[in-house]
Amino acid sequence: MSDASRPLVLGLETSCDETSAAVLDGENLILGHVILSQDEHELFGGVVPELAARAHLQKVDLVVEEALRQAGVSLGEIDVFGVTAGPGLIGALLVGVSWSKAASFACDRPLVAVHHMEGHLFSPSLENEAAQPPFVALLVSGGHTLLVHTVAWGEYLLLGETRDDAAGEAFDKVAKLLGLGYPGGPLIESLASEGNASRYRLPRPMLRGNQRQGDPDFYDFSFSGLKTAVGELVKRLESDGVLSSEIAHVAAGFQEAAVDVLASKTMRAVKHTGCGRVLVAGGVSANTRLCGELAGRLGAGGQLFHASTRLSLDNAAMVARAARFRYDRGDLAEPDVSASATMTFPGLERRVA
Ligand code: KG4
Ligand code: ZN
Repeated sequence: MSDASRPLVLGLETSCDETSAAVLDGENLILGHVILSQDEHELFGGVVPELAARAHLQKVDLVVEEALRQAGVSLGEIDVFGVTAGPGLIGALLVGVSWSKAASFACDRPLVAVHHMEGHLFSPSLENEAAQPPFVALLVSGGHTLLVHTVAWGEYLLLGETRDDAAGEAFDKVAKLLGLGYPGGPLIESLASEGNASRYRLPRPMLRGNQRQGDPDFYDFSFSGLKTAVGELVKRLESDGVLSSEIAHVAAGFQEAAVDVLASKTMRAVKHTGCGRVLVAGGVSANTRLCGELAGRLGAGGQLFHASTRLSLDNAAMVARAARFRYDRGDLAEPDVSASATMTFPGLERRVA
């Protein structure tokens, strides 16, 4: 066991298609970190829940062993176990939760049930100590799109969220429409870099100049209409026999519309909260166009925090970091804790307009 003020945390992440374990020393020293992506889903153009759960089950022991080996510690030296308990795919989550519960019981050490999106919120702070609240957080992943005024760690004011598809889901669905692989985000980004974003002007759903603070859609997002517009455009280009020569322009036009909506809503939050510090996290924050646009709109007076690509995507280091925060607050899991596909975000309150 380590020094009580610097507990060693073992984080485990199995909520979707990455099996990941990390050993965290103190608040940001990552001693060991393994992220194993399941490429078997590529064949199906999306994550197959049953396959994901089986793959986690097959790999979890090896992944933890390797993280411990890198850290140079044994399981018995871990002080706190942290695991993503939700939201996510229930079968996948159950693998991590069952593993961590058993380890916590066997080692007689506390267990923390981490909310996946709170994990993402902590990811930039692993690489940059200045990435601390207050900030406006844009959390963009395959399952969520949340705009959160983060007053302090654990004190979250929900400004807006998606009404339909999540931002990453929109990238994935558009990639499918364009006949690209999975996950779609990085494929769209690289294709878009070869295209002209202004060739096809695509709709910016839920973004109009006449919206006012207090309107229910002022901060909320919607991406399904944008996806439908891409679908219509693809059909038209296909029937004209020009899709292959136009595909990069379509990808660029889609990315531009999605980035415009995300950045515009974030800047509304900056204006109305008076907070010029912005944090962007979750898989879509690996998108350099999005980060570039946010940095540009914030200008020299603002500050943008985001993690490297490795820590933007699903990983266990962020889970260990969030677990450390919850552990310090005494938010420990009960012995009967289970995974929850729809876990509520701890400390998140909906802003009353
Ligand atoms: O946070 P994450 O790794 O997993 C979830 O919690 O869902 O996010 C995955 C999502 C996928 O939808 C993926 O297409 C998207 O993040 N993504 C990107 C990029 N890299 C990953 N979206 C846009 N641009 C990228 N470079
Ligand atoms: Zn995620």
